[in-house]
Amino acid sequence: MRTQVVIIGSGPSGLLLGQLLHLAGVDAVIIERRSREYVLGRIRAGVLEEGAVELLDRARASQRLHKEGLIHSGFDICYPGGRHRIDLSALTGGKKVVIYGQTELTRDLMDARDASSATTVYEALDVEIDRFDSETPVVRYRKNGRTTEIACDFIAGCDGYHGVCRASVPANAITEYERVYPFGWIGLLADTPPVSEELIYINHERGFALCSMRSETRSRVYVQCDLSDTVEQWPDARLWGELKARLDPATAQALITGPSIEKSVAPLRSFVAEPMRFGSMFLAGDAAHIVPPTGAKGLNLAASDIHYLSAALIGFYRSGDRAELDQYSSRALARIWKAERFSWWMTTLLHRLPETGTIGPRLQQAELAYLFESRAAQTALAENYVGLPY
Ligand code: FAD
Ligand code: PHB
Repeated sequence: MRTQVVIIGSGPSGLLLGQLLHLAGVDAVIIERRSREYVLGRIRAGVLEEGAVELLDRARASQRLHKEGLIHSGFDICYPGGRHRIDLSALTGGKKVVIYGQTELTRDLMDARDASSATTVYEALDVEIDRFDSETPVVRYRKNGRTTEIACDFIAGCDGYHGVCRASVPANAITEYERVYPFGWIGLLADTPPVSEELIYINHERGFALCSMRSETRSRVYVQCDLSDTVEQWPDARLWGELKARLDPATAQALITGPSIEKSVAPLRSFVAEPMRFGSMFLAGDAAHIVPPTGAKGLNLAASDIHYLSAALIGFYRSGDRAELDQYSSRALARIWKAERFSWWMTTLLHRLPETGTIGPRLQQAELAYLFESRAAQTALAENYVGLPY
């Protein structure tokens, strides 16, 4: 079997790349380890930057997003002593974000792919990438007891943090930068109306919390927990109770609770692998970098990587020019490092960080006070939150 590009992974990065290549007439096969249902069952991100929405427009997969997505022009920070709104639109010349779940976005991209003739292989086992230091790379996988080999021009490693692509690179060819935070988030999804029209990020002495949503009738909430905590240790009543304890009294009273339809614990990590190109293989999305979710940047960074990578691949097939392929890693990383900095900063501002001792919370209070007094500081936050330019 032969194709132009093999994409490993059918998360948002792989599906978006597959769709953009397909629309440009470039053949790509997607190889995914899990089943379609498993991929759709993962509850993850919820906030999209305008750049990500434009990319979905270009991928012709944004119809439902424009109908059902909630447009937000600001969010609140709740802190000891009050609540402050960050007016994203006023601070950025009218920019907004869209609340639309990663699950829905993934479903839309899968539906768009189904409508095309493009091949996706789900439940592919023992995926191997080979000869990516040459111009004749191959990908192998096993399915139903049979091994298939695909020859291609390029491999796109869109296979997430635990994928095979980054792991196949010799250790001396890659540099990894990492910080694992000493706490996690426990998240809960429920069919209850969100407590507020906009997101509320909470800095509290008991720890960080976040009130988010998926629609006008579905809430997504998170509370900072211990890294070793399990879902079993967090019955719904404990999680809602903890959220109430971290909210201001008026909002806590207005909070409507209900049974969870999903609950999961996520660790928080900052991670970057450099470079993102190894001969004929390119890494994109979580395969190359992870941000703590506080700045809502994970999915949006996957989209900006795909913006650069799709343009480079399409340019190559149109003109034979490799210049954009050569620039992919440095262009993507320039934006990634800024999002890493912002996500680290927002995490540090809002969480209880055990290693900062008694001075940590006081420094946070000073930083929050400065933020709320200074339009310049708020502008810096807003510019990063709505997304830096591609
Ligand atoms: P992924 O979505 O991880 O997709 C990678 C795909 O590759 C998967 O389908 C996987 O099954 C497949 N794969 C892996 N290994 C192989 C293999 N060997 N062979 C074939 N296929 C393989 N971001 C936010 O902005 N906000 C959030 O609240 C948020 N919450 C998150 C919670 C969790 C638990 C996690 C893990 C991430 C969260 N993120 C969040 C980050 C965001 O979801 C990711 O940045 C986004 O999913 C990245 O998309 P991706 O396509 O690059 O990777
Ligand atoms: C979410 O809705 O899942 C969400 C929103 C904002 C974040 C992180 C997660 O910063």
